[in-house]
Amino acid sequence: KYEGPVYSDGIALVDADGNRIEEGRLKPGEQLTVFPEARPGIEDAPTILVRFEEDVYGGDVKGEYTVGGYAAFSKVCTHAGCMVADRDGDVLVCPCHSGRFDPTTGASVVGGPPPRGLPQLPITVSSDGYLVATGDFDAPVGAGGG
Ligand code: FES
Repeated sequence: KYEGPVYSDGIALVDADGNRIEEGRLKPGEQLTVFPEARPGIEDAPTILVRFEEDVYGGDVKGEYTVGGYAAFSKVCTHAGCMVADRDGDVLVCPCHSGRFDPTTGASVVGGPPPRGLPQLPITVSSDGYLVATGDFDAPVGAGGG
């Protein structure tokens, strides 16, 4: 049973040092690995938080899941479970087999062997100004499950 902090308007996202993510933390074009802090079952689920200008999003991105130009996706590659750790321009790249995901279109697959895009995590800004998740990833995390 989860015993950590609970936030009334969402699930805290924290960085690798455990610090919450203020709304102004990233500039457009930046990204950060974060972790949903307070959710039984997916705590420590590595998540890529990206920020772009709000008008770049299109395609399959779930607009209601984004806030202030931020979007969050599972960092676990849907091909064989490596961590999606690299970047080529705006595209997120998996180092294992060069799987490529476009975060401006819902992390859809734009190259390589992954069978499906990266699951998206719904996020918003809490009343006290931090990014929080409002629910679970929209698809199973990791390889398979697609
Ligand atoms: Fe990511 Fe194969 S594990 S491309």
